[in-house]
Amino acid sequence: MKGIILAGGSGTRLFPLTLVLSKQILPVYDKPVIYYPLSVLMLAGIQEILIISTDIDLPLYQRLFDTGEQLGMSFSYKIQHEPKGIAEAFIIGEDFIDGDQVVLILGDNIFYGNELESVIRKAMKRKTGATVLGYPTDSPGSFGIVELGDHGKALSIEEKPENPKSKYAVPGLYFYDNQAVEIAKTITPSKRGELEITAVNEAYLKKGQLYVELLKNGTAWFDTGTHDSLLNAANYIRNIQKNNRLYIGCIEEIAYRKGFIDREQLLKLAGPQQNSDYGKYLMNIEE
Ligand code: TTP
Repeated sequence: MKGIILAGGSGTRLFPLTLVLSKQILPVYDKPVIYYPLSVLMLAGIQEILIISTDIDLPLYQRLFDTGEQLGMSFSYKIQHEPKGIAEAFIIGEDFIDGDQVVLILGDNIFYGNELESVIRKAMKRKTGATVLGYPTDSPGSFGIVELGDHGKALSIEEKPENPKSKYAVPGLYFYDNQAVEIAKTITPSKRGELEITAVNEAYLKKGQLYVELLKNGTAWFDTGTHDSLLNAANYIRNIQKNNRLYIGCIEEIAYRKGFIDREQLLKLAGPQQNSDYGKYLMNIEE
């Protein structure tokens, strides 16, 4: 199972914050945005990850994560020259995916909740087809919307519909079998000139192979694409961390708990960060 983090895009809704800085490197409270989607892939047990970003921003992520070996992982990097759409990730990532199953997460999406891991596990167990998540929203006109059918299958999926058929938005975390690359090659750009992820999902739907897992109450989902959502996410993370004395998106802790690294390596990663509360938390993680 491979993981892709899509961390390019234009970030125009965050201007002037993103005039010269990549959206996924901005802070959400105490860590860069990208730590959160990365931590979701790690919780899913995925150790081979491709990060896709713009030619200008990719070196930032390479500096931040290097080969991934320090986390017991393997990171690859690829450039998306223009923001031609989310589905282009499969074309850019074809060699990396190499016929495997793949989980795609958008680099600006944050998920948190106790049930998250079991939902992910269920989606990953499906060897054929694609699985999207469903998250209730009050503004269905702003998202991809999925309608539920029988036996966990989707009945319809539409991008920003005028007359939504359900209240379930599709968050930026998707699970695919080995057909995704070939399907992505067959779709054509939308009116806004992008290879839409919804078009890939529609192709699976037509084959009767698109499944939905609903995110249960108590699971939080933030897309950090606007100033308000970025601030909301930061406040949320801060509150949970301060009140529960646990860290969200703490990649070193997850690497340790998942057995990707041993205690000695955890402390080695914590050492240089000791001046911050984050580093102190790492130093004090219990066995
Ligand atoms: P969006 O937020 O839809 O697009 P954007 O980042 O270009 O921002 P804006 O609408 O404010 O101009 O993208 C969702 C995520 O997918 C985000 O993490 C960026 C990423 N993305 C790419 O990496 N490449 C792309 O071609 C697109 C469309 C998005």
